[in-house]
Amino acid sequence: MRTWLIAGNWKMHKNPRETREFLNSFCDLYKGSNEILFFPSAPCLEACAEVLSGRHAFGSQNSSEYASGAYTGEVSAQVVKDLGGKFVLLGHSERRQYFGETDEKVAAKFRFVQGLGLDPMICVGESLAQREENQTESVLRQQIESGLRFADKTRVVYMAYEPVWAIGTGKVANLSQVSETHEFILGLVKQLGFTSVKLLYGGSVKPENAGDLSRLESVHGFLVGGASLEVKSFISIAQIGKVL
Ligand code: PGA
Repeated sequence: MRTWLIAGNWKMHKNPRETREFLNSFCDLYKGSNEILFFPSAPCLEACAEVLSGRHAFGSQNSSEYASGAYTGEVSAQVVKDLGGKFVLLGHSERRQYFGETDEKVAAKFRFVQGLGLDPMICVGESLAQREENQTESVLRQQIESGLRFADKTRVVYMAYEPVWAIGTGKVANLSQVSETHEFILGLVKQLGFTSVKLLYGGSVKPENAGDLSRLESVHGFLVGGASLEVKSFISIAQIGKVL
């Protein structure tokens, strides 16, 4: 039976109390067989670890390329690991846009995170202007070749394709845009010598469009922002593929 990886990116939403409430209720209600992953904000990681206690995976939305030290404001991937986290989201377009995260930074962070035995999930995606100027493939190629520069070819590559113009805008990419772009990414990653890839789609995923998107062979799951903040909507996305 086909299953998907469904990840919730909570961005800078929820406090520890809301994190606990959400996760307790999610764990009670979720009956699907998909793999679930939560990316709470850093101050809520511990609450997340406590409530989930191994029932579902979680990780941080960013981490430093250093283990520890004088890096004010940074998140240590080592601490994420100590808390039981399994993933770190890297290169989200909001990190690239608002915090100056470059492909070089993403690559360095990737190397450090993977070296710890955690799984980096790298986000890639083009802006509207880049799509309109037919630069989607070259932009993605640059982000992917650079971001995976130090990646271990024997490990699973976790990647989220998130067109910047579809994030938080309600404009989901249409099925042929997602399918074409996912096929391009999968081909490229394979060409680079990786054998195992999990490619998630992100950008205005909602209960209303998740079903159709999930039927595309090249969509292995979703990275969900806004719709992951409410238990009800996240559950309906998380349950795709479930025979009711
Ligand atoms: P969205 O966000 O689902 O609210 O568009 C997705 C993301 O930024 O990961």
